Amino acid sequence: MRRSRLLILYVVAVVFAACGTQAPQIAPGPSNGPTAAAGLFTEAQSTRGDALFASRCGSCHATREFSGRIFMIGWETRSVGEFYEFIRTAMPYDQPGSLSDQEYADVTAYVVSLNGFPAGSQELAPGADTLNEIPFGSAP
Ligand code: HEC
Repeated sequence: MRRSRLLILYVVAVVFAACGTQAPQIAPGPSNGPTAAAGLFTEAQSTRGDALFASRCGSCHATREFSGRIFMIGWETRSVGEFYEFIRTAMPYDQPGSLSDQEYADVTAYVVSLNGFPAGSQELAPGADTLNEIPFGSAP
């Protein structure tokens, strides 16, 4: 009995480990098209995101948590869409989903800008489908 329980634990652990190694597949490689360096948002949008961050995220988070070396180590191979989708479904922690999709896109634009990525001429549109194609990549 003991032995078979151990075996089950082992199998579960192996399956989890296998899932873990598959996760990065979502993020395309740096050569697969535009990265956040392409100018994904407008200046006006990141200014709106800044104000939203202050009022809706700032009670629990400091901007330095979402910028700089440590943040980029975690995110440079993940997509902008993954970030958007995470905050849209999980944040604010005490009121998930309480911003509009547009507002989540604005906050995402602000976080992209915090990491030294340039503004462009088009807004970052809400909707994870296209954003999933765009890795953060490295700031120019
Ligand atoms: C009431 C407090 C609170 C508010 C407000 C809040 N968060 Fe969070 N946030 C948390 C907590 C707690 C965690 C850790 C959750 C966990 O690990 O399960 C977290 C985790 C995160 C993470 C993951 C960090 C990482 O390194 O993986 C991100 C990104 C994030 N929050 C963004 C936001 C954004 C953007 C907003 C505003 C729209 C926001 N949060 C508002 C409490 C909050």
